[in-house]
Amino acid sequence: MTALAPQSTHHVSKEVILQASEVTMKFGGLVAVDGVNLTVHAGEIVGLIGPNGAGKTTFFNCLTGMYKPTTGRVEFNGAILPPKPREVVVAGMARTFQNIRLFPNMTALENVMVGRYCRTTSGPVTSIVHGPKFRREEQETRARAAELLEYVGLGHQGASLARNLPYGDQRRLEIARALATDPKLLLLDEPTAGMNPQETREAEELVFRIRDSGLAIVVIEHDMKFIFNLCDRVLCLVRGKTLIEGTATEVQSDPRVIEAYIGSPKTKEAPDA
Ligand SMILES: Nc1ncnc2c1ncn2[C@@H]1O[C@H](COP(=O)(O)OP(=O)(O)OP(=O)(O)O)[C@@H](O)[C@H]1O
Ligand SMILES: [Mg+2]
Repeated sequence: MTALAPQSTHHVSKEVILQASEVTMKFGGLVAVDGVNLTVHAGEIVGLIGPNGAGKTTFFNCLTGMYKPTTGRVEFNGAILPPKPREVVVAGMARTFQNIRLFPNMTALENVMVGRYCRTTSGPVTSIVHGPKFRREEQETRARAAELLEYVGLGHQGASLARNLPYGDQRRLEIARALATDPKLLLLDEPTAGMNPQETREAEELVFRIRDSGLAIVVIEHDMKFIFNLCDRVLCLVRGKTLIEGTATEVQSDPRVIEAYIGSPKTKEAPDA
């Protein structure tokens, strides 16, 4: 709980929290991720950018145990993780999804409580069967979930079914559910997709607050303004490979990054432009 108390100053530590080395993921003949290295330090916000199909989500899936990389290794907190999403979450890595994955017919509050069950000894069924200790734990889970909803700005939506929430709120709810697992590292896959400019600014502020509470963050986004405002470092992937990695300023001004997004003028511009 103290993890969410804001700290006054931000500085990136030297403590390595995630180390991905030469990660390659092949699907048949397609090399979706090709020898990618990434180091994330405690307290850092790292951006992952690149055109559609560059391999960003696939790389996330390799980091979070959804895929076992074809080759390469992923170390989290100094240990190699088994390629099992649940164990990765228990180890302290949480994520949100590009295609929102909530439980649509559960309330917002219940969705966050589900995130919490990886840290409790009981789920909703055992609490009914087993009595007071478990009921107390369930109360704590509920209270913590309510607190997290408040934290992401959804305090008023606890009783709403997830499927009835506006799109931007669903994205924030996914963040609350991820935070409920008490992560050290949070991975966000296009957290502002479908948001209006106002919601995007709020999301930016939320990511800073999460970072200031002591988490490291890796964020995929196509919104360059969002990325370059937010990130200490940015990694740009193109066709599975690292094109450039550097500070936001370095990556922003690199002509190869601009070209990767816009394409060469001959192929993309109007004929007489
Ligand atoms: N499960 C899969 N099986 C086969 N090919 C896949 C699979 N998942 C992704 N791919 C392919 O791998 C490549 C990288 O896809 P990925 O979704 O990682 O890109 P991305 O950078 O996240 O793109 P976007 O910005 O559109 O989300 C694409 O060519 C995609 O079609
Ligand atoms: Mg993607």
